[in-house]
Amino acid sequence: MQLLLDTADLNAIKEIISIYPIDGLTTNPSILAASKWDLKDTFEQFRQLGRHLSLHLQTTARTAENIVEQGRALTDNFGDGFHLKIPICEEGIKAIPMAKAAGIKVTATAVFTPLQALAAAKAGADYVAPYVNRLDNICANGVAEVGNITVILRNYGYETKVLGASFKNVQQLYDLSLAGCHAVTVTPALVKAMIYHPYTDKSIELFDHDWQERFGDSHITDYL
Ligand code: E4P
Repeated sequence: MQLLLDTADLNAIKEIISIYPIDGLTTNPSILAASKWDLKDTFEQFRQLGRHLSLHLQTTARTAENIVEQGRALTDNFGDGFHLKIPICEEGIKAIPMAKAAGIKVTATAVFTPLQALAAAKAGADYVAPYVNRLDNICANGVAEVGNITVILRNYGYETKVLGASFKNVQQLYDLSLAGCHAVTVTPALVKAMIYHPYTDKSIELFDHDWQERFGDSHITDYL
């Protein structure tokens, strides 16, 4: 499963990618608008990170022609790992094959139903991004819908990958991994929560304590 970071917090990005195996970054207009960082500085950092990570940024245009124009400019600017996030609406669906024909990678976003995902896959999207927690918030079972999207895309042999988005807890991530979701994008806090377990911390403390009692401050390599 690919693991992407859903944030524009440059400090958090730096910290998380120095520790965890991160495949890419995603943002949306709301995330960028809420960021305290200067947008040009943010993009400069993204450009450097984009050499090693996939980068999914959302169009701010509303017509297919303008969406593709932005996609060209952003792809030229950010390079090979760049994916243009296009919200699923009529202009978005129209823009997807145009963008693909122009060599722009596409992530269809703001996906809430399996049929929206199917339409995006049929139009040629590389990824579809369904919003799990926003579905859960209206009692529409986000995990089950993403599972259904994954099955439908596999049924018809689409190469489009499912990029689960909008998470509020690790249970949702766990359930999605069982459903065979290809990729998820999560906040820095959730990446950390993925590996947290109090018994793991307790076990590490106990290992240290037992070693110290018998061998003091020495290390295992001192006995080679
Ligand atoms: C990612 O593509 C989405 O923009 C994001 O995950 C939405 O998350 P939210 O529902 O927490 O805002």
